[in-house]
Amino acid sequence: MSDIYREIILDYYRHPRNQGKIENPDIVARDSNPLCGDDIEIQIKLSKDKKSIEDIKFNGKGCAISQASVSMLTEMVQGLSLEEVKGISKEDIFEALGNPDLGPTRVKCALLGLKVLKLGVYNYLGSKLDSEREGL
Ligand code: FES
Repeated sequence: MSDIYREIILDYYRHPRNQGKIENPDIVARDSNPLCGDDIEIQIKLSKDKKSIEDIKFNGKGCAISQASVSMLTEMVQGLSLEEVKGISKEDIFEALGNPDLGPTRVKCALLGLKVLKLGVYNYLGSKLDSEREGL
């Protein structure tokens, strides 16, 4: 991982964007990293037509990579339609993190936020997240 990305990750960890709660959220989802027990909850307020994300916040505990990646993700998806959110891949997360060389344990950390987001969106849309297919 290059120094600049290490700095960016630490900055998101120390000053998380979109951390907090939403009043009367349309979507709430929560999951934990099976390897460490750290967990993340995501809350989403949808637009009036219920098709896109108007506001999103997260809460939870975890390491710098998990907290930075979920915080970056919340910025990435503001205003996106739920269909667009379904299309976000783990590669998009790795790219936002600067394509660090992560071992399998850290990969779980980096992808926890995306997994929670997709669990919430799929559940809201009445379908099920295929974790294996998406590698989450
Ligand atoms: Fe728990 Fe990274 S060590 S999420």
